[in-house]
Amino acid sequence: MKKHLIAPSILAADFAQLANEIEMVNGSEADWFHLDVMDGRFVPNITFGQFIVEAIGRLAKKPLDVHLMIVEPEKYIESFRKAGADVITVHAEACPHLHRTVHQIKETGAKAGVALNPHTPVHLLEDLIEDIDLVCIMSVNPGFGGQKFIYQTLPKVRKLKEMIIAANAPTLIEIDGGVGLHNAESLLQAGADVLVAGSSVFSAQDPVATIRALKAFEASFDY
Ligand code: DX5
Ligand code: ZN
Repeated sequence: MKKHLIAPSILAADFAQLANEIEMVNGSEADWFHLDVMDGRFVPNITFGQFIVEAIGRLAKKPLDVHLMIVEPEKYIESFRKAGADVITVHAEACPHLHRTVHQIKETGAKAGVALNPHTPVHLLEDLIEDIDLVCIMSVNPGFGGQKFIYQTLPKVRKLKEMIIAANAPTLIEIDGGVGLHNAESLLQAGADVLVAGSSVFSAQDPVATIRALKAFEASFDY
């Protein structure tokens, strides 16, 4: 049985204490750093770009999972790779030529991720699934941390898992938004491989223990 991965979302960290927050993740059982790039156009919020990704990468001892919530992401793929991104995820809704963009990411040597907004059906990816390293199912409307988990995500994860198994693809399923100790187990049972957790980790009394608890769930999908 494959063990799931935990990716704390730095968006929920205290940016005035960023080095300490990164050290906390380095010393925890977390697997990846999830970095949310927002442009104020694809989503109604602005966060950070390549410069901060690169700075985080200098301290991070784990792979950088960069989630691009931006329009025209194809313009910035090479620069985020240069900044240290190991996984680059673009939104299907922002890519009219998704096949081309996925291959553009892979050519940089990064893993290619595709994110789907809550209303976007998973069948959209049916003819491309073998080429995608990771599908990020948004379980909130992207733009902000700390939102409530949208319950329709669970059947969506199951459907995507069936599609991945039918295609015999190695694609990972990542869940992003409103994930915490209350829903991690059902998400893993539905087929999730990577759990992104922002506020549930960084607002916890003990973030390291929360990461450990998220990692400890044994309800991984039975392969
Ligand atoms: C939302 C971001 C998420 C967010 C998750 O647009 O993509 O990664 O930081 O934060 P929580 O876990 O607080 O919902
Ligand atoms: Zn994200």
